[in-house]
Amino acid sequence: MPLKPSKKAVLSIEDGPTVDLPIYSGTLGQDVIDVSPLAKNNHFTFDPGFVATAACESAITFIDGGKGVLLHRGYPIEQLAEHSSYLETCFLLLNGELPNKAQKQTFEATVHRHTMVHEQLRTFFTGFRRDAHPMAILCGVVGALSAFYHDSLEVSDEEHREIAAFRLIAKMPTLAAMSYKYSIGQPFMYPRNDLNYAENFLYMMFGNPCEEFKVSKVLSTAMDKIFLLHADHEQNASTSAVRLTGSSGANPFACIAAGIAALWGPSHGGANEAVLKMLEEIGDESRIDEFVDRAKDKNDPFRLMGFGHRVYKNFDPRAKVMKETADEVLKELGISNDPLLKIAKRLETIALEDAYFVEKKLYPNVDFYSGIILKAMGIPTSMFTVIFAVGRTVGWIAHWNEMHSAPFKIGRPRQLYTGHTARDYPH
Ligand code: CMC
Repeated sequence: MPLKPSKKAVLSIEDGPTVDLPIYSGTLGQDVIDVSPLAKNNHFTFDPGFVATAACESAITFIDGGKGVLLHRGYPIEQLAEHSSYLETCFLLLNGELPNKAQKQTFEATVHRHTMVHEQLRTFFTGFRRDAHPMAILCGVVGALSAFYHDSLEVSDEEHREIAAFRLIAKMPTLAAMSYKYSIGQPFMYPRNDLNYAENFLYMMFGNPCEEFKVSKVLSTAMDKIFLLHADHEQNASTSAVRLTGSSGANPFACIAAGIAALWGPSHGGANEAVLKMLEEIGDESRIDEFVDRAKDKNDPFRLMGFGHRVYKNFDPRAKVMKETADEVLKELGISNDPLLKIAKRLETIALEDAYFVEKKLYPNVDFYSGIILKAMGIPTSMFTVIFAVGRTVGWIAHWNEMHSAPFKIGRPRQLYTGHTARDYPH
């Protein structure tokens, strides 16, 4: 349905025309000013980093960063974390409503039936060095899925999009675990469809063919919560990368590979790995002040990883849930003396009290606590962002699918050109 303006903004350009710009209101959040009429008046808007730009209309996720609110299809993240599961939340994000019992069973069974990857894909792994970063492997093998599943590449076909969604959600844990097993030289574990999503992932990560592997309930519940808390986060860098890639009509596997690449950076999903690297670099509680001072020094590019967020300027509601989960996991594993965890706890206290962090509203974010949990679970640091990617896959697909379910244009931003004016080639 075309959007109806609720009011208008009037922009008067010095020595130029006055332009009427329609304003649209959503169900929640800021109104948006439609600046597209400016193009006809020979002007573009300029907003590097998209700090004041709504790139699309969406009904999936709402964030109020000031109040620390995160809603998926209207449901608060805290309630989903307490009462739902990752796969149920996947259904919600993809379909708009929570499933009834039968829908839930069918959805879970379909995901479980797609967990295996094409046997030929196993040979891809041997092309990588053993010390390759698992995110590098994941970018490659997820993109390569489009070479295997030709029957789900027609992006204008709703059924193809649905099959691709199931395949991606189901196969991501398998590919993620394979990238880990490859790095340590252990055999790949085939998925077990009698286990739930998180249990199966832990089994494929830590099981081996020589002995029985029992998955701890506390750990699999924590893993499910990590997936759920990362499931979607509206128009962040990786989701925007998926939408932009998808806007050219690229196939779903290529689009998700673009999302994985964007997620990898330390300002985004790579932060959970960067948190642990930073804790290792600090190394001892006696050096915390030195690092906090560096983070506050304008002339030093160092930042406290796991602190601050573009959107949350109060607290990150995911971090609250994650902190509770971290406490449960540390208790279950009987960990209280780990030196890195001690540094993390001390850093958290200092940053929450320090005037610089308080004034700039730099709170511990989801990656701060997820890094701590994953480390305690024995997951290697290089796998942290991979786990974020597994959880976020559903969000990427939900947004890509939403875009394809209505008319859209190819994404094509413009620029403020500050290079040379035309000049002649010297000859
Ligand atoms: N440590 C020290 N200072 C910081 C930090 C930090 N972690 N984050 C922001 N600042 C300062 C920054 O220097 C700036 O100061 P000033 O106004 O004096 O120039 C001010 O706070 C605002 O920072 P910004 O870079 O303009 O804010 P942004 O919205 O562009 O960046 C961020 C958000 C998440 C990239 C940034 O806070 C950061 O780099 N944090 C560390 C990396 C991190 O933990 N990222 C994970 C984000 S949560 C997972 C996800 O959703 O992807």
